[in-house]
Amino acid sequence: MAVQTVASSTGATGSAATPDVDLGPAAALSCRECGHRVPLGPVFACQECFGPLEIAYDFSSYGAEELRRRIEAGPANIWRYAPLLPVPADVAGKPNLNPGWTPLVKADNLARELGVTGGLFVKDDSGNPTHSFKDRVVAQALEAARAFGFTTLSCSSTGNLAGAVGAAAARAGFRSCVFIPHDLEQGKVVMAAVYGGELVGIEGNYDDVNRFCSELIGDPAGEGWGFVNVNLRPYYAEGSKTLAYEICEQLGWRLPDQIVVPIASGSQLTKIDKGLRELIELGLVEDRPYKIFGAQAAGCSPVSAAFKAGHDVVRPQKPDTIAKSLAIGNPADGPYVLDIARRTGGAVEDVTDEQVVDAIRLLARTEGIFAETAGGVTVGVTRKLVDSGLLDPSLTTVVLNTGDGLKTLDAVAGTGLTATIRPNLDSFREAGLA
Ligand SMILES: Cc1ncc(COP(=O)(O)O)c(C=O)c1O
Ligand SMILES: [Zn+2]
Repeated sequence: MAVQTVASSTGATGSAATPDVDLGPAAALSCRECGHRVPLGPVFACQECFGPLEIAYDFSSYGAEELRRRIEAGPANIWRYAPLLPVPADVAGKPNLNPGWTPLVKADNLARELGVTGGLFVKDDSGNPTHSFKDRVVAQALEAARAFGFTTLSCSSTGNLAGAVGAAAARAGFRSCVFIPHDLEQGKVVMAAVYGGELVGIEGNYDDVNRFCSELIGDPAGEGWGFVNVNLRPYYAEGSKTLAYEICEQLGWRLPDQIVVPIASGSQLTKIDKGLRELIELGLVEDRPYKIFGAQAAGCSPVSAAFKAGHDVVRPQKPDTIAKSLAIGNPADGPYVLDIARRTGGAVEDVTDEQVVDAIRLLARTEGIFAETAGGVTVGVTRKLVDSGLLDPSLTTVVLNTGDGLKTLDAVAGTGLTATIRPNLDSFREAGLA
């Protein structure tokens, strides 16, 4: 296996002192716009064109059979894919929440309700350590933070990321200080605060929080801080590839035909596509066409609006939806999502808050999975795409549930007791329950 040691970049905004780093097969950072390459370091924007940087790998020494065997013999968490991630070789021995390897649920009851005949699966990420897919991305950022010598972990968050950072920092012995909009769901706030780090509410929406964090990175007050989704974003983002790897492995090393992914910043969707392309390139799955569909809430649907209008640029919106985890009005990866949906023959669609709630109830009633609002968005969009004919019901389809309904209980307020009775049989019969 090719393990490269490269000198890390110095002079990055908000960077700690950066020793030489060894991040396994990660070879460099590469600009998604102009292809300019720089050494691995805590930088996220291209010095040439300000485009976003992403990890470039050297997988040239990998043979498909050996790699597949190695993955299958690995742990039942994301680290089974360590040869495909920007992490040091000994990552599994370090304190980490070890998320991933979540169930791919064959959702036959839901399929019947939606009229999907080609096989419908829910990739249920609600069972991760802090109950969302964000544990995957934070696990990568944590390893990068360690490699670059940061001691404080931070982020701007729509809620789930805050909890994932707080928990990962607690386990790994980092300080954490995270920033969220001040008006998030109680479940998200408690989940983020309970790990003992600092949790700061910002008077504004997520886009205001994110702008503030960018300012803090450039200020001496943010010196030595690793913002998982800002200066560590290239590493963080790679964590979402593990969703693509797991789905294919759980399907028997096969690509799904169609996959429905929620969009906030759009990072997850773009990295699922990257993960699928890597598996094809590495010869781990047969090269067949797949379609990626993006899902948004109507009250924050800048990418869906651009897709439907045929635009290449995404016009920012002011979010107003119960799907707060997806409420990013100015999504950084929006244009890349548009490219991927168009290139693969997918689409980007949105659903109303009422449809989100109906979909949460539908998934719970049919499959016993209680999704947070983001899961209501993907299931609701899947229904809409089947009804409109954009999604082919005769093909294998995977729908992502990226978070746990216990964090967004308000969405299903009014759900509760069927009846209250006295502790005797007459009362039971009177209530019409016999
Ligand atoms: C539960 C959940 N699903 C999906 C997303 C979308 O993530 P991304 O910003 O990568 O599009 C988020 C983002 O916060 C989230 O919390
Ligand atoms: Zn560039």
